[in-house]
Amino acid sequence: MNTAAEHIVWHTPRISRSDRCELNGHRSCVLWLTGYSGSGKSTLAFELERRLFDLNCRSYVLDGDNIRHGLNRNLGFSAEDRKENIRRISEVAKLFTDAGHIVITAFISPYREDRRLARSLFAEGDFIEVYVKCPVDECEKRDPKGLYKKARAGEIRDFTGISAPYEPPVRPEITIETDKLTPDESVERVLRYMQANRYMS
Ligand code: PPS
Repeated sequence: MNTAAEHIVWHTPRISRSDRCELNGHRSCVLWLTGYSGSGKSTLAFELERRLFDLNCRSYVLDGDNIRHGLNRNLGFSAEDRKENIRRISEVAKLFTDAGHIVITAFISPYREDRRLARSLFAEGDFIEVYVKCPVDECEKRDPKGLYKKARAGEIRDFTGISAPYEPPVRPEITIETDKLTPDESVERVLRYMQANRYMS
């Protein structure tokens, strides 16, 4: 039987990532947001995208809920399916960075090993892990979609923080405590990190 890589060749593009970044006027990278459901990942991701757009930066959000409507609609929430979810998204994020974009991913991505594998696809500095930190009881109080209530009632299995684990990052590049900062302050903190590290001017 043929292996997947057999009889497949790599075509080298004529336009490089650095050509695209030069055209765009900023570096490309992935901002990898991780945190509990209800921690504020999507709010931060979409606010950031808006601010980057206004700063003439090419950015794009890959959001867990949205991607599970299409590309990853066949995946559930077992550890195996979450691994595959994160594997596909990290490959997609890599394509976006090759295309010169600042890609913002908003996935719970609860397992350290899955995030490590995602990071391993990128060169040093191209992967910025953003820990969207909020105590799980605060997320449960917010419960914006009523999912914690359902998980407590046993209507949702393998729910992160209730019946499935979340492994916090050990050395994230950025930590945003959403129970202490407003969405605007959170966005500013990420932008300051990007400017200080010369991703953009
Ligand atoms: S993961 O763990 O990274 O694969 O999850 P992700 O792709 O980010 O999807 C999380 C969103 O799916 C909804 N949802 C659940 N979350 C956690 N556990 C279970 N069992 C579950 N079932 C459905 C929920 O709306 C999550 O969205 P966010 O934006 O995180 O609240």
